Amino acid sequence: MNKKHWLDCAPSLTHGNIVQRVIFTQRDSKTATAEGAILNHVDSFARGCLAAGATSAPHINKGFQEVFFVAAGSGTLIAAGKNHALREGDGILIPPAVKHSFVNNDCSPLELLILVESIPAGLATTNTEILIRNYRQSPIVQAHWHHFSQSIFNQKDGLTELHSILIVRMEPMTTADMHSHESDMDEIWYMWKGAGMHVVSRDVSLQSPGTALAVAPCNPGHMLINHTNEPLEAFYFAHYV
Ligand SMILES: [Fe+2]
Repeated sequence: MNKKHWLDCAPSLTHGNIVQRVIFTQRDSKTATAEGAILNHVDSFARGCLAAGATSAPHINKGFQEVFFVAAGSGTLIAAGKNHALREGDGILIPPAVKHSFVNNDCSPLELLILVESIPAGLATTNTEILIRNYRQSPIVQAHWHHFSQSIFNQKDGLTELHSILIVRMEPMTTADMHSHESDMDEIWYMWKGAGMHVVSRDVSLQSPGTALAVAPCNPGHMLINHTNEPLEAFYFAHYV
């Protein structure tokens, strides 16, 4: 089972002084044996932290775009010379060629989940400006019995390799139905708040906050169970076949 907690991943720096822990990277011939190199389409998934009072270095994406999710804290995004207030639950899509930096003007750390996706050759991104959307703005969609999901971004918003990024909420003592996924896709569940029990194929795994789990391929399937007395909320991203 491909399961990792961000604390078990080596720290590195991105955007000057965002301390990140890269949880999963894309598999290729060079990284096939590297731990966490399990993604088929998405370049990488990381958890980052910008300290209270800190500002990240200005950064421009070349040939790739980034999605940030504000998991905790607040701050300001400076993009193309404009200031944008950030709050918990915001998704931020940053296409290529937009100069951007983060300012943590709060007293607590700014915790970010960071997705990187390459722009496929010959494909122009539809966005030339950043996009910010809080998942709470999106309608609630019910699926797999007890998944209550709210979209952050999808391909209509300009994603290229990623098809869907969303938050899934499950109420206490509920379960999803078991459903299967093929191998040539990415479906990652990162436990944001609360905890759950994830059945993937024949393995049963406790998924605590900060733990990411890849569920594809799975046979006969996977299902997330909230076995606790508190709601759980998971950050989910996928590339479908
Ligand atoms: Fe699934």
